Amino acid sequence: MSKISFKAGNMLYPLPAVLVSVADKSGNANIITVAWAGTVCTNPPMVSISVRPTRYSHHMLMETGEFVINLTTKKLAYATDFCGVKSGRDIDKWKELGLTKAAAQKVSVPCIAESPVNIECRVERVESLGSHDMFIAAVEAVRVDDTYMDERGGFHLEQAEPIVYSHGDYFSLGDRLGKFGYSVQKGLDGKQKNSYHK
Ligand SMILES: Cc1cc2nc3c(=O)[nH]c(=O)nc-3n(C[C@H](O)[C@H](O)[C@H](O)COP(=O)(O)O)c2cc1C
Repeated sequence: MSKISFKAGNMLYPLPAVLVSVADKSGNANIITVAWAGTVCTNPPMVSISVRPTRYSHHMLMETGEFVINLTTKKLAYATDFCGVKSGRDIDKWKELGLTKAAAQKVSVPCIAESPVNIECRVERVESLGSHDMFIAAVEAVRVDDTYMDERGGFHLEQAEPIVYSHGDYFSLGDRLGKFGYSVQKGLDGKQKNSYHK
């Protein structure tokens, strides 16, 4: 196997592409698609989104210091792309896509009702990194669609058909390969169940 060198750049894929809802101080709300998003701390729960200052949404983030990350699904794939190529400067993306604003619990910015998971965030600091400003935020509340809950309180996000973004394309998820820790899981006989060498 040989490899070729790419120009140093962004190649950390696949990623979630999320619909981030934002609003200005007067309550005018917008949606921006963001792929440069991530979990940055478990405890306290914190996330980041990186947004170019030229985006219409940027001034809203600066004004309220609040946003909601709405996870995306197969059904929301079209909206995910649309909100990433059209600006709230020119159109009302909620109206255009028939998306529903739902009140958030802890922030003033609305959630997208059609999304199965809404993560309400409050900005703690903004780092200007170059092309993008990184908004590092505390997670204030998480709400999930109860359709995907089982009777034991388990949440099955895969049933909502989440999508990923990989090097310019959107994909749905493939086969389930195992659960956290499966590589070292032992069977009833005490022997390791799975082995790389099998
Ligand atoms: C899949 C995808 C991912 C994107 N990720 C980001 C991102 O992480 N940060 C960003 O500033 N813009 C990103 N964009 C571009 C913005 O979503 C796009 O410029 C959008 O029209 C801005 O909306 P606004 O002007 O209403 O704020 C992405 C676009 C797409 C399609």
